[in-house]
Amino acid sequence: MKVSFDHRPGRPAHVAIIMDGNGRWAEQHGLPRLAGHERGAEAVRRTVTAACEQGLRALTLYAFSEQNWGRPDIEVAHLLRLLSAFLDQERRELCQRGVRVRAIGDRSRLPASVCAALARTESATIANSGLELCLAISYGGREDLLQATRALCEAAVRGQLRPADIDEQRLGAALGSRGLPPVDLVIRTSGEQRLSNFLLWESAYAELYFTACLWPDFDGEALRLAMAAFRQRDRRFGLVRVAG
Ligand code: FPP
Repeated sequence: MKVSFDHRPGRPAHVAIIMDGNGRWAEQHGLPRLAGHERGAEAVRRTVTAACEQGLRALTLYAFSEQNWGRPDIEVAHLLRLLSAFLDQERRELCQRGVRVRAIGDRSRLPASVCAALARTESATIANSGLELCLAISYGGREDLLQATRALCEAAVRGQLRPADIDEQRLGAALGSRGLPPVDLVIRTSGEQRLSNFLLWESAYAELYFTACLWPDFDGEALRLAMAAFRQRDRRFGLVRVAG
């Protein structure tokens, strides 16, 4: 499906979200942690719909970090099941909305069922021109920078690249996020204020927005508030504003 973008100034092209607080939401509601993740998956559905309606070009969601592998097996398995279910259940709707899906992160650690669901959804949505939905799964910013560095070194050893030719563009093109616009706005829910190894290169000049809202309560209105806060920011990218 072909979708054209509304390039209004002040609108972030790429929003990245650290979806935090599922466990605390569950605790506050007297439910097991896994129920918090289930409600978190519903918030993902709402947020993707809102991102399409609000005209975002790219949305990256931190769904499962490299470090999350260290959580109890039952929680890891549940999160991976929710991811597969999201990819399979939402594929039709995502296609109808013109969403193009991709994943970043280390797929070699993922179970075959998750890889297959990812491949099905990526190939079903590849020709879409609407929202670029990027799911960070088994992802770490440092780990992505390391694999990119290794790939560039290997190309240099093969004689395909001179070290002096390695610039921001080449390094950016070796990252999982290649082709996506730089991150304009990072949102983190649950009141925590840190990046937790998320999109370290891509967020170099991103505005940071922290909200106390726990991820399962996030919705289109919460996204609108973050976008409104973004419009108030004075982005200078290290330059100075010239008077007049
Ligand atoms: C952080 O909350 C959240 C995660 C580690 C996982 C995010 C996963 C989802 C929102 C659901 C599945 C995703 C998709 C894309 C369908 P936490 O468990 O660290 O919360 P806490 O800090 O309150 O314990």
